Amino acid sequence: MSADTLLDFQNVTMAFGGNKRNPDGVVALEDLSLSISADEPSIIAIAGESGSGKTTLARLGLAMVKPTAGRVVYKGQDLWSMSSQQRRDYRREVQAIFQDPFAVYNPFYTVDRLLLTPMRAFKLARDRKQARKLMEEALEKVGLRAAEVLGRYPHQLSGGQRQRIVVARSLLLQPKLIVADEPVSMIDASLRANILTKLKQLRDEFGISLLYITHDLATAHQISDKILILYRGRVVEVGDATTVIQHPQHPYTQLLVSSIPRPDPAKTWEGRVEIPLEELSAGGDRAGCLFRHRCPHVMPECAKTPDDYAGAYGQTVACYLYRENGAPATAQ
Ligand SMILES: Nc1ncnc2c1ncn2[C@@H]1O[C@H](COP(=O)(O)OP(=O)(O)OP(=O)(O)O)[C@@H](O)[C@H]1O
Ligand SMILES: [Mg+2]
Repeated sequence: MSADTLLDFQNVTMAFGGNKRNPDGVVALEDLSLSISADEPSIIAIAGESGSGKTTLARLGLAMVKPTAGRVVYKGQDLWSMSSQQRRDYRREVQAIFQDPFAVYNPFYTVDRLLLTPMRAFKLARDRKQARKLMEEALEKVGLRAAEVLGRYPHQLSGGQRQRIVVARSLLLQPKLIVADEPVSMIDASLRANILTKLKQLRDEFGISLLYITHDLATAHQISDKILILYRGRVVEVGDATTVIQHPQHPYTQLLVSSIPRPDPAKTWEGRVEIPLEELSAGGDRAGCLFRHRCPHVMPECAKTPDDYAGAYGQTVACYLYRENGAPATAQ
C-alpha cells in the first residue's frame, strides 16, 4: 500500500440481496480497482448508463455500504476498520455532493445553520465571529454574496444558489476529496457550466480531488482528467478523459460517445444510436463479456471474460479486439 494514495478501491465487488437461490444477488459492481492520488489533485469521471453501478461506487467510497469483496482504503486504512480518530478525519476530508443536495437537509434550517453545523461538529472556528468570517469567505469563493443568502431557507433560494451553497459547505471543511454523484443533472444548462467551472476551481485553487459521477460524457470531457467507463458493474475502458472520449476503443464506449448530442443544433441527434434497454438489468448470467449481446464485433471468444488490453491511444480496454496489443503499459 503506497502512502501517496488517498482513496483506493481494491478489487471491489458489491452485490445486493444475495439469497440461497441466487447467491450472487444483483451484482452492482464487480472487481473494480481505482486509485485516487494524494499528491496530485485530479478529477476522475465515472460514466455509464443507468444501472451501471455509478452510485454504488460513490456509496462505497463514502462508507455508506460495505463491499461484498475487496477493500476500500483511505490513506492506507480500510474504511471498515478505522480508529475513531481516523474515521473522524476521513469524515471531514471526504465530502459528498448528491443530485439534489438539499433533499437531505432539513427544510426548516436556514443557510446559516447548514453551514455552522459542520463547523461546530469539526470545531473549525474559535468563536461566532470567526465562524461568520469563514462562512462569508466560503460563500464568496463560490460566487455568492453572504447578504444574499444568509438567513434564508432552502425554498427561498434558486437551484443554482443551493448547489453553490453545498459546494461552499464542502469548502468550509477543506476536504481532500469530493464525491459528486450527478451534481449538475438537476440544474438547467445555463447554470451547469458555472457549477462545473467551480468544481474545476476546487482542484486548481484548493487542491481538492473530485470523483465526478455522471451519465453525461460531454460534461465529463469538459472537466475530467481521467475517465472510467462502467458497463453493468464492470470497467470496460479507463484512461485519460480526452483520449477516451475522442478515441473510444471499447465498442460500448464507442456507442456512448456516438450518443453525445452535438453542439450544432441542426446535427443534434445525427449519428445517435439508441441503446436498447433490455440488457440493462444487472442480474443474470455474468460469464463472458457482458456487452457481447449488443456488440457489432462479437467473436466466439467473447463468451469468456476478456482481460485488460492496451488501447491504441494509451487507455486500458477490456475487449478482445485489442488482444494483440497485450497488457496495458501502466496500471490504471
Ligand atoms: N440497495 C440496493 N439493493 C438492491 N439492488 C441495488 C441497490 N442499490 C443498487 N442496486 C442495483 O445495482 C445496480 C447499480 O445501481 P446504481 O444505483 O449504482 O446505478 P447507477 O449507475 O447509479 O444508475 P443511475 O444512472 O440510474 O443513477 C442496479 O441494478 C440497481 O438496481
Ligand atoms: Mg446513480
